[in-house]
Amino acid sequence: MALTLSVRSGDPSRIASPLIAILLPAGGSLPGGLKELDAALNGAISLALSRRDFRGARDELLHLQGVAGRVERVLLVGLGTPTSLPLALRRAGALAARQTHKLGTGSMTAWTPRLDASGAEALGVGLNLGCWEYNELRTPPPADERRAPLESATIVAADATALRKSVVVASAIGAGYDLTRKLAMMPGNVCTPDLLADTGRDIGKRHKMTVTVLGRAEMEKAGMGSFLSVAQGTPQEPRLVALQHRRGGKGAKPIVLVGKGLCFDTGGISIKPADRMEFMKFDMCGAAAVLGAMETIGRLGLRANVVGVIGATTNMPSSTAVKPGDVVKASNGKSIEIINTDAEGRLVLADVLSWVKQFDPAAVVDAATLTGACVIALGNTATGALGTDDRLVREVVKAATTAGEPAWQLPLWDDYREQIKSDVADLKNTGGRAAGTITAAMFLKEFTDYPWVHLDVAGTSYSETDLVAIPRGPTGVPMGTFVQFVRGRVR
Ligand code: BES
Ligand code: MN
Ligand code: ZN
Repeated sequence: MALTLSVRSGDPSRIASPLIAILLPAGGSLPGGLKELDAALNGAISLALSRRDFRGARDELLHLQGVAGRVERVLLVGLGTPTSLPLALRRAGALAARQTHKLGTGSMTAWTPRLDASGAEALGVGLNLGCWEYNELRTPPPADERRAPLESATIVAADATALRKSVVVASAIGAGYDLTRKLAMMPGNVCTPDLLADTGRDIGKRHKMTVTVLGRAEMEKAGMGSFLSVAQGTPQEPRLVALQHRRGGKGAKPIVLVGKGLCFDTGGISIKPADRMEFMKFDMCGAAAVLGAMETIGRLGLRANVVGVIGATTNMPSSTAVKPGDVVKASNGKSIEIINTDAEGRLVLADVLSWVKQFDPAAVVDAATLTGACVIALGNTATGALGTDDRLVREVVKAATTAGEPAWQLPLWDDYREQIKSDVADLKNTGGRAAGTITAAMFLKEFTDYPWVHLDVAGTSYSETDLVAIPRGPTGVPMGTFVQFVRGRVR
């Protein structure tokens, strides 16, 4: 269920709610706006602050019981000492919603001192992130054990009118994240290339976007030997899906968003170890983020030309699967020696990146769960960003930072090209263990001839551990980065 977000004016003590989350920075005293609420609670908030039961540290939670006038419960949430208040509000909002969702009150309000438009947007996005869950494949608990899911949240502010637009934007971003995370969480037997294509068609229909879907036959015609080599081991139809949102200037070159959509990556003949292989259902997180971003962009009706493109298939070992040593030809004419069939994402993207040239892009940003090496380098915290145009990389990294999805640039120097030279073909698909994220990006670079940035989201698009504000599983990254990047280019 999507969270219904709203904003209203009034004193936080006078708005009826089963729970109010109060988001406070570290080390402060009772904010003026909480005087009445504190009085209704017999001074419980100011006492918690003066006794230092609650210090406002990042991720700190204190649940105050007892009826406070029209507010039934109070949840104090720490913001820490933020360098960016919106990002702190996003995180604390997610934590508050997560906690409230567990309590089962169904709805909540949230209040924080000094809330401006960007803070309200970030808080709204956070509240939405915090109550997301994927229950479609589970039997619901018996009625008497069921807790009400969090379905609505109201931000209480001094001047609600000024924040109304932010809340609408936050809802659209929330819908994009919900879709991204849902697609990512779906198992490989449910989330197939055809399901991704149908999702693209549905987004296109609702937002008046032109949708193009290619299958095996069309890809053969286009000479996509690289993409097809990955798909030759699976009976499922591979899908290249493009959604065109044309709301910018008539002649304006579009922004192209590209996503890796491996609905499952077994590794193919170079098969992966069984341990934790189930996480490879997340190998379509780049594609999921492209679809989520197109959903948000459509809802916001952004005045921009944007094309979202995904390359979807499944990497399987079989009697027809591609083998190590095979040489295939991509649609741009380059031959590729396949050293390791588990380096399949770059083979899919090679043809997708070549294909998007037809749009004459102003910029292309691709997102892919491309290398385990990126998880080793940057963990679950930062996305790897690489590109041929430093200014564009900086623009994308800035968008990522603003969206609360930090990215960090890695070099893409020609020196690394040595590692992907082949004895028999123009290129080989792996460059050894050293600098694995960079050599993967060097490989992709061979198929681009426009301003381009590659985002390696292998560590950031899903997590194998609980990330405090976000549970184990899909994070939605880099959906927010895509949307923020496009918003930054709207005149
Ligand atoms: N999808 C994986 C990358 C990955 C690994 C994502 C772990 C998330 C967590 C990708 O297709 C892959 O298998 N890459 C190989 C490349 C290697 C064979 C050069 C890798 O990283 O091991
Ligand atoms: Mn792989
Ligand atoms: Zn993969």
